[in-house]
Amino acid sequence: MPAAPVSKTPDRIAGMFDAIAGRYDLLNHILSLGIDRRWRTRAIRSLALTGRERVLDLCTGTADLAVAARAATPPAQRVVGVDFAGAMLRVGQEKLRRLGLEAAIVLVRGDAVRLPVADRSVDAVTIGFGIRNVENMQAVCDEMHRVLAPGGRIAILEFAIPTVPGVRGAYLWYFRHVLPWIGRLVSRHRGAYEYLPASVSAFETSDEFVTILRRSGFVEIFAVPLTFGTVFLYTGRRHA
Ligand SMILES: C[S@@+](CC[C@H](N)C(=O)[O-])C[C@H]1O[C@@H](n2cnc3c(N)ncnc32)[C@H](O)[C@@H]1O
Repeated sequence: MPAAPVSKTPDRIAGMFDAIAGRYDLLNHILSLGIDRRWRTRAIRSLALTGRERVLDLCTGTADLAVAARAATPPAQRVVGVDFAGAMLRVGQEKLRRLGLEAAIVLVRGDAVRLPVADRSVDAVTIGFGIRNVENMQAVCDEMHRVLAPGGRIAILEFAIPTVPGVRGAYLWYFRHVLPWIGRLVSRHRGAYEYLPASVSAFETSDEFVTILRRSGFVEIFAVPLTFGTVFLYTGRRHA
């Protein structure tokens, strides 16, 4: 059955993330049982960094993926994180201060569909659990392609509903009943953790998202299932 459409206007999405910003990291770690850190490390590893790369992290939120790019060995040389939710960025900025990463990572308020970034100026673009929130995914993928230098890589993490029969049933139950309840309890926000399962159900299948990436011009695209297919890592490159 096709999932019901989910409203993704920028004001609604930014407002929702602003409202949960203070509890976002904690909830991420609780709801994923701490596995989210491993997903981010895996995504950054796929970029095969050499220590010289300029990385753009879209929908950066509280900057965990940007931090993972600097924590890698070797690390990205410089990371710019972009997000339109000011409160998420403020939590991220405080994290950078605590970690002493303010010089290496710059956070900018902006919309991923209109990046304030020059053509062919970055070596890699990452997105962690942000693409399903975007109204116009094709526009964001076109922007990623525009700003990437030839041969540049992308790494995108996004949730998915697993297809393995036993796992699927258990996951849907957790996702629809347990997760919204814990989310509401910890974040004290009614809608945000009902939006999460709704937006994941409405997100394109991995095949459909790969088609969007291909349409933007990306090549060598792979969709790799992680943790029983609850998350996919999408990788690809701009033509050299
Ligand atoms: C689920 S959070 C992910 C945060 C972080 N990347 C992570 O891995 O935890 C999604 C973020 O995407 C941001 N976002 C959604 N659509 C956006 C857009 N069009 N432009 C910029 N940020 C956007 C939201 O404000 C939110 O902070």
